[in-house]
Amino acid sequence: MRFKGYLVREKDEIFSGSLEEIDTPSIESGRVLIKVHYSSLNYKDALAASGAKGVVKSYPFVPGIDVAGEIIESMSPDFSIGDNVLATGYKIGMSEFGGFGEIVHLPSEWVIKLPAKLDFVKAMSYGTAGITAAACIKKITDADCSKELPVIVSGSTGGVGSVAVGILAKLGYQVHAISGKSSKENVLKMIGASKVLDRDIFMSEPIKPMDKGLYSAAVDTVGGDILSKIITMISNHGVVSCCGNVAGPKFSSSVFPFILRGIQLSGIDSAESSINFKKELWDLLSDEWSLNLLNQTKIVGISKIDKEIDKILKGNQLGRVVIKHGE
Ligand SMILES: NC(=O)c1ccc[n+]([C@@H]2O[C@H](COP(=O)([O-])OP(=O)(O)OC[C@H]3O[C@@H](n4cnc5c(N)ncnc54)[C@H](OP(=O)(O)O)[C@@H]3O)[C@@H](O)[C@H]2O)c1
Repeated sequence: MRFKGYLVREKDEIFSGSLEEIDTPSIESGRVLIKVHYSSLNYKDALAASGAKGVVKSYPFVPGIDVAGEIIESMSPDFSIGDNVLATGYKIGMSEFGGFGEIVHLPSEWVIKLPAKLDFVKAMSYGTAGITAAACIKKITDADCSKELPVIVSGSTGGVGSVAVGILAKLGYQVHAISGKSSKENVLKMIGASKVLDRDIFMSEPIKPMDKGLYSAAVDTVGGDILSKIITMISNHGVVSCCGNVAGPKFSSSVFPFILRGIQLSGIDSAESSINFKKELWDLLSDEWSLNLLNQTKIVGISKIDKEIDKILKGNQLGRVVIKHGE
């Protein structure tokens, strides 16, 4: 049996993807074969599709860190044919062919049953971006950060950022959203931002060792100097959840926000989180923290994915992109 997948090949250090027919692997012990109905586009998928170092082990390769579909074969007692399931992260779309193919062959311990209140599209409108946003916010709620001051979110029109803005607003936080897209102020306000901060203006003043503590917490999806600045602006015992690096992998800080305000810098690695923690996050997203993301989600056929990959690499994507198979 063969399936269609977006296979990325490398030739003379140039990477390009196209839809190809791929042989379905024979199922191995402890694994499941999933017919993928939907996947989603995350920044990491765009890195995988463009050959960025350190994401994919070897090419040709099918990216796609998110999978929503139906079990078609199972060598695990935990899953039966016909079960609707989800899988995100671990080595999916990094060393195991991912959700940009119509079939995936995954270890069953990476897979969860689709929560009752979600369908495939809703689940993939969250995808890894959604559970990453939820993991960032869990750090903030677990630390009981005050609602008296706003929470600041960077990269706020992106996948992780936009879901974070929505959940924080739903939980009753005032949200200040940093964005490079001044034209999207209304969209961010509709999602739940109480104030939108232009990225260039936010960064225009020099970064001090410690600034006014204007924010009780932060979700930082970009890293670099923006993270350096955010750390200086967190008030006493606040939390900065740090999950991304689109603005750069390096940041700097004095020790003062840590030793004079007791702030915490919390790293997020949603891909390798335990499956039980992922289940907990999916339960929150399907229930108490649930959002209607359909206004900020585009559904795109797998054959049209190139344009979307290019957009996310340039930082121009807005909200979430769900990928549909079987057209
Ligand atoms: N640690 C984890 O578990 C985990 C999981 C998922 C994702 N991530 C990381 O989180 C980050 C965001 O992922 P995503 O899927 O949300 O990506 P995305 O949809 O592309 O969002 C990133 C957003 O960052 C802003 N941005 C882009 N380039 C920038 C720059 N040079 N300087 C400052 N801001 C910039 C843009 O928003 P504005 O125009 O609104 O500013 C952009 O929409 C990525 O680094 C990704 O690898 C980490």
